[in-house]
Amino acid sequence: MSADNLYTVFDRMMSREEKETVLKQKSHVFWFYGLSGSGKSTLAIKLERFISSNEKHCVLLDGDNIRSGLNNNLGFSEEDRAENIRRISEVTKLFLNNGTIALASFITPFNHLRETAKKIVGDQDLSLIYVKASFEECAQRDVKGLYGKAKAGKVKNFTGQQSAFEEPSSSDLVLDTEKETEEESFNKLLQYMKAKIAF
Ligand code: ADX
Repeated sequence: MSADNLYTVFDRMMSREEKETVLKQKSHVFWFYGLSGSGKSTLAIKLERFISSNEKHCVLLDGDNIRSGLNNNLGFSEEDRAENIRRISEVTKLFLNNGTIALASFITPFNHLRETAKKIVGDQDLSLIYVKASFEECAQRDVKGLYGKAKAGKVKNFTGQQSAFEEPSSSDLVLDTEKETEEESFNKLLQYMKAKIAF
């Protein structure tokens, strides 16, 4: 379903370039994806603190937070995950056009969902960052106790169990948290970010 009789004002609003000039920064979307417990949020939060301590403006959108508010009517079926990612992509685009650096941290389990994010935001404006750790490793970490619950059959459509996680066909950056220390992964992330937006 799409709406009729819309008279958008995008052409009269302040442009992204004007916003970036005011904020003295370049905006970009850094999209972290990977299994639950792979380290997405940890790395995204560290980056948020780093960016802010350098007096730049960013926003962090995180799976559990967004799902308890904006997307609290969505579950974990394939259809709902697609709607989750579509909405978040649109939200990150709003921030991008506001000159804000957006950090998104979502499992984004299928290649077509990663493509959706790229398509909505724009190929040049979104970096796909794969936070890589195996199901076994994440189950061992079990930071939220979800893997234990899933094993006991108490989580429906759990990613990596009844619901698939597709290995990416391509990524802009891979942070292997099973092989690298947190510091190593974060330093790789910082280098990538600095080069991307002339930070
Ligand atoms: S996504 O697949 O649509 O990208 P998203 O990142 O928003 O997922 O949400 C994942 C978070 O929801 C996980 O970190 C976990 O805490 C929670 N969660 C609850 N149920 C599930 C489930 N069945 N599968 C995966 N994550 C779940």
